[in-house]
Amino acid sequence: DEHGAVVQDLGGARVLISAGGTREEIDPVRFLANHSSGKQGFALAHAALARGAEVTLIAANVDLETPPGARRVEVLSAAELAEAVAAEREDADALVMAAAVADFTPAERAEEKIKKTGEDDVPVLALRRTEDVLAASVTDRRQRRGEAGAPAGTRVNPHVIVGFAAETGGEGRTSLELAREKARRKQADLLVFNDVSRGVFGAEDTAIEILDAEGADVDRAEGSKTAVAHAVLTQVASRLGNVRW
Ligand code: CTP
Ligand code: CA
Repeated sequence: DEHGAVVQDLGGARVLISAGGTREEIDPVRFLANHSSGKQGFALAHAALARGAEVTLIAANVDLETPPGARRVEVLSAAELAEAVAAEREDADALVMAAAVADFTPAERAEEKIKKTGEDDVPVLALRRTEDVLAASVTDRRQRRGEAGAPAGTRVNPHVIVGFAAETGGEGRTSLELAREKARRKQADLLVFNDVSRGVFGAEDTAIEILDAEGADVDRAEGSKTAVAHAVLTQVASRLGNVRW
């Protein structure tokens, strides 16, 4: 409010947040990684706690202090993150997938360090796809809804599923067009689009556009990662509204 106090509109809600970037091991000394710092996911955790939520933070390789009051689950790889989210999501009112999850992982991890042999020797790294945790969470909820034979309006957790999309645009498509398509494809309740065409990973300030499952505009926000986190959580709280947890 105008006095700086935060509205407790997530009071008692259980919010599951994935943050950071996964690492896929190639051999005992090497991995494939990405530039995600975990700052946005941790800002979401701080903001959700301030609004009264019970927060579980699945952190992949994040060098930041745990927000006081959050329960932190450490993971390294996309597979570990997938397992942790699957174990926690049925107990969460909202799932926020802020982590940058590897799309590809080495088909095989070498037991020993890969050595150079001949003068021009270059190894070929075979990759395979990882599980899409966000899409799997949406599918799993749809299946559990069906099994419950639930009357329309019955809550199946996570009641609100939020994805993130960092896009640069390309092949004649703007980043926003790609984000709208991704929103429709993923079928998360909300997709937070972040334009990274100018390279903003790790930056303090950011600008986002919140889309719904049809790819339509819900809200937009810019400024600190905290400001952006609150804009996202306002949408989460409004979708969780009218229920007792
Ligand atoms: N995500 C996920 N599991 C993956 C990859 C991504 O859960 N294996 C989630 C991210 O946490 C994010 C959302 O999906 O919330 C979108 O990630 P993004 O990388 O933008 O989408 P992708 O479907 O991987 O598409 P792209 O080919 O553009 O990387
Ligand atoms: Ca991806």
